[in-house]
Amino acid sequence: MSIQKNYSFLPERTFTDQTVVITGGGTGLGLAFSHECLRLGANVVIVGRNQARNAEVAAHLGEQYQAKVLAIEADVRHYEQVETVLQESLVQLGRVDKLINNAAGNFISPTGLLSHRAFDTVVDIVLKGTYNCTLVFGKYWLENRQKADVLNIATTYAHTGSAFVVPSACAKAAVVALTKSLAVEWGKFGIRTNALAPGAFPTKGAWERLFPESVQKLMDFKSRIPLARVGEAAELAAIAAFLLSDFAGFINGEVLTVDGGEWLQGGGQFNFLSTLSAADWKAAQEATRRAKS
Ligand code: HXC
Repeated sequence: MSIQKNYSFLPERTFTDQTVVITGGGTGLGLAFSHECLRLGANVVIVGRNQARNAEVAAHLGEQYQAKVLAIEADVRHYEQVETVLQESLVQLGRVDKLINNAAGNFISPTGLLSHRAFDTVVDIVLKGTYNCTLVFGKYWLENRQKADVLNIATTYAHTGSAFVVPSACAKAAVVALTKSLAVEWGKFGIRTNALAPGAFPTKGAWERLFPESVQKLMDFKSRIPLARVGEAAELAAIAAFLLSDFAGFINGEVLTVDGGEWLQGGGQFNFLSTLSAADWKAAQEATRRAKS
């Protein structure tokens, strides 16, 4: 049985009296972000489509942390619904300080088999959802001259592209562009914008859509990831909280990769040599030295 580590490292009152809005905050990585922000003293707004589930999660979290946790039903693809999230959050909690654009949609598919609606769906959730929320909350912060922090969730393949998740790769790459662009444009108003690029963090929602059993048989994470393990949601959440906190007050426009070195292993042309044995290396060294003579 694996032992759950405690990854939290920020002081407990880091987010006291602040409100963090987390899209998709009721499940998976979003739920881990909710836990960490609440542990740090924040009130949390969980935004999502499944209101029954999120309301239950919110009630449970509110009791666990003795904090205000709202579940607000909204589909981030629709700007007006996000505007309602802002209004409702202000009415119920009085302020909004931080936004985590975590809601995502994704599934593996050969691109030639995707309908244009399927492509739209993923891009709309990931990119449009992110800019809708950023725009609604950003406009409010700018108008009110309020300092704030935005954290976007990208992926490592936002940099490289990836076959079979093409709508997600396109949308996440644009999310990285949004992150860097707004870091410059809004930095002077005290709004920091950063992103995380997580690697393999097994959560039900993502893994069912990205690594169904038939695909899992083809995957060996230990050989794909230099650190030979997958990530834990709680360790990503601790890093997310750090980026949102004043302790990271000089970090702006950063896309922080948290993947155990996975994407670099895929990139280096000679990284495959890590499979060579000591005897293979001896033979190879003899051959490369002979090349001199
Ligand atoms: C092909 C599919 C499909 C699939 C849906 N579609 N699933 N096409 N293969 N598996 C098509 C549908 O047929 C439809 O097109 C269109 O996509 C819209 O589908 P709907 O089901 O109507 O959309 P919706 O109800 O809005 O659901 C969105 C969804 C769903 C993305 C399809 O899976 C969802 O709600 N996901 C949210 C959670 C999620 O995906 N989490 C994983 C994120 S992981 P037609 O033409 O038939 O109308 C992530 C991490 C990346 O981003 C990094 C990992 C390492």
